[in-house]
Amino acid sequence: MSIDPAIAADPAQRAALRVPTHLGVIMDGNGRWATARGKRRTEGHIEGVKALRSMVELCITYGVKYLTVFSFSSENWSRPREEVAFIFNLLRRFVASDLQRLIRNNVKVRIIGTRVGLEPSLVRLIDDVEAKTADNTGLVLVVAFNYGAKAEIVDATRWIAREVAAGRLAPDDIDEATVEAALYTAGLPDPDLILRTSGEQRISNFLLWQAAYAEFVFVDEHWPDFNEASFVRVLETYAQRERRFGGTGAAQS
Ligand code: IPE
Ligand code: IPE
Ligand code: MG
Repeated sequence: MSIDPAIAADPAQRAALRVPTHLGVIMDGNGRWATARGKRRTEGHIEGVKALRSMVELCITYGVKYLTVFSFSSENWSRPREEVAFIFNLLRRFVASDLQRLIRNNVKVRIIGTRVGLEPSLVRLIDDVEAKTADNTGLVLVVAFNYGAKAEIVDATRWIAREVAAGRLAPDDIDEATVEAALYTAGLPDPDLILRTSGEQRISNFLLWQAAYAEFVFVDEHWPDFNEASFVRVLETYAQRERRFGGTGAAQS
């Protein structure tokens, strides 16, 4: 997919859009995309990586500051071993092929999820990408890999419990900021908008705490088919939402 500078730059088009500061994406439907074409599911995952590459470019072009993508959930381990191995290899290949481009585009990469259970070589690779892009100041690309929000909250709870047990933290001093600082996403703003492709309308253990006030947009396209026109439609839909955060909203104030 190539990005059409005319759409991105046209003031009339831009006026109908609202660009979230932080966009979360549940990149779903790779398998169905492939099956519908008589291909193997793994081919859908390959196409999915291409769609991810495009999404990163779209976010840079349109001015999204943080992009969090769900690429492998803690529950995805229940898939056939070959598919899991293939997805893990794709991550390695994505890093190998795209690291230089990400650096050139000033993208800062952060990988969230548990590293427990990952091969040491993969952990080194993840650490290396984060280190090599740490000083970049453009788009923050957060890859949720081996990620589950419930596991994240359990990990955060353990960390807080250890702080209390060590006498460094009093139970009554625990507040929302304490929990936020203990999550994998510490330091990141909450997502404003969460997009899920491929028709499923559920969160599947993605950013449970952080999504407390996110807007949700569900689209029918399978992830490999998601393109600039789909992206623009999502931003138009988001522009029509009124975020109230528990207040009465502009119409009634
Ligand atoms: C999303 O596509 C990618 C991962 C979960 C790794 P799926 O593989 O879930 O595709 P469907 O939902 O089976 O079509
Ligand atoms: C969520 O999709 C995880 C990712 C996109 C990585 P799934 O395909 O695993 O979710 P379910 O099983 O349909 O809820
Ligand atoms: Mg799926």
